Amino acid sequence: MDKIVVLDFGSQYAHLICRRIREQGVYAELLPYNIDADTLAGMNPKGIVFSGGPASVYESNAPICDRRILTLGVPILGICYGHQMLVHMLGGVVKKARREYGSAELMIDDDSDLFMNIKPRIRCWMSHGDAAEALPEGFRVLAHTESSFAAAIGDRARRIYGLQFHPEVAHTEHGSDILRNFAVEICNARQEWSMSNFIDDAVRDIRGKVRDGERVLAAVSGGIDSTVTALLVHRAIGDRLTCIFVNHGLLREGEEGEVLDMFNALGIKPMYIDASRRFLERLKDVDDPEEKRLIIGEEFARVFEDAVREHGPFQWLAQGTLYPDVIESGVSISREAATIKSHHNVAGLPKWLNLKVLEPLRQLYKDEVRQVARLLGVPEHMVNRHPFPGPGLAVRIIGRVTEEKLRICRRASKIVEEELARAGWYDRVWQAFAIVGDDRAVGVLGDGRVHGHVVSIRVVESMDAMTADWARLPHELLARISNRITNEVDGVTWVTYVISSKPPATIEPQ
Ligand code: XMP
Repeated sequence: MDKIVVLDFGSQYAHLICRRIREQGVYAELLPYNIDADTLAGMNPKGIVFSGGPASVYESNAPICDRRILTLGVPILGICYGHQMLVHMLGGVVKKARREYGSAELMIDDDSDLFMNIKPRIRCWMSHGDAAEALPEGFRVLAHTESSFAAAIGDRARRIYGLQFHPEVAHTEHGSDILRNFAVEICNARQEWSMSNFIDDAVRDIRGKVRDGERVLAAVSGGIDSTVTALLVHRAIGDRLTCIFVNHGLLREGEEGEVLDMFNALGIKPMYIDASRRFLERLKDVDDPEEKRLIIGEEFARVFEDAVREHGPFQWLAQGTLYPDVIESGVSISREAATIKSHHNVAGLPKWLNLKVLEPLRQLYKDEVRQVARLLGVPEHMVNRHPFPGPGLAVRIIGRVTEEKLRICRRASKIVEEELARAGWYDRVWQAFAIVGDDRAVGVLGDGRVHGHVVSIRVVESMDAMTADWARLPHELLARISNRITNEVDGVTWVTYVISSKPPATIEPQ
């Protein structure tokens, strides 16, 4: 498949460049900036993008790519820092300039390739302190702003281009069209990247890897990643896939039924393992959050081990690792190294299981997984379900996990979800749940004073869980949630709303 390679110079937007190019139907992947030219050439990219980054090209330790990349004859597009580095490496001059941050008006001087079919003036997003002062030989100005005479430049003969602004961010009008022009018109990359093609390729790939007679094990949680992984493997090898669904006793209200029903409707019957007693027994005297996580991971591995012993042998373990996880580990180039990371992912699984790892989603972003899920028939409410942490309600119960606190956390969380859905807020927020600890507060119930639990509500907005902000829910909605919780959940007298953003807080309380 034709691909565009994006070299990452440290910009927070580097992933976004990949995603925008993929949205144009062209496959794009992110690689470290210091990849050597031979490895890069071996990947046969149709085009190369240099991302932005926080450095200045004239600093002594500035990240600079392998110089030979510039002479591979493959079209190049530099963005922000990437643009300045191109100018610097090709003999132009980059200097500290008037800082430009935010929206600027871009005036297009040449619309013959990069700006083809784009109106003459557009808003663009700038975020830079350096700028090109003199262009390298062969380059012409393609667009300017009031303060940047060379906001876009190009050397048509060498097919090398530079943009001082960020076409990948939503604030740049027609940014996606500019990236499309680069990928499709300048690089001639074919628009072959679609989720239905992906499904065909993934199924073929799994069939190629898992040999006749080999069997695959997958743990499913009902979350979108493990569900789609299981569906793809099932489509490829049918009943040679065994799925297990472990109930650790820390699931949301009605969750086990919902997950099992979904899989049944999709034609997969997971093995249901009710291990709730085991987990809760081991957690009963533990209040340290890290210890809770550790115990849950350990116990999960044991349950898994028992399942393998009883229902094995298996040769493969299927996992829902996504592209950002692959990239984060910095090992995307080498398949060997990537497999090592996968083993680490299966926290706590004993080595003797000796399972090879199958990761059909390792090329995909979350929104692409959602598209695949829809194509595979996963019901919309499961596709849009909020993320739920592996350790479940244990991280939403502060202090010891008791039956009483579990009951309160479950019921109150359900009320939060129901009320958000009713008010049209559920799909607008990243996560929404209730937290319960050991704090108590006095309330009046009937004629008596009650020393009840305090429940905290956490509703956050986020793009990727790296940062998050508390959702500004309407007061009436908060009032309804609070009323229902104190009326319907026995033992709760107070309801509070968490107004801490991440950072410094985290999304989960534990
Ligand atoms: P924090 O609390 O770190 O959470 O801001 C960020 C995102 O990760 C989820 N989360 C987890 N997911 N295992 C998981 O699978 C975990 O141990 C875990 N801890 C947090 C959390 O729900 C949020 O979406």
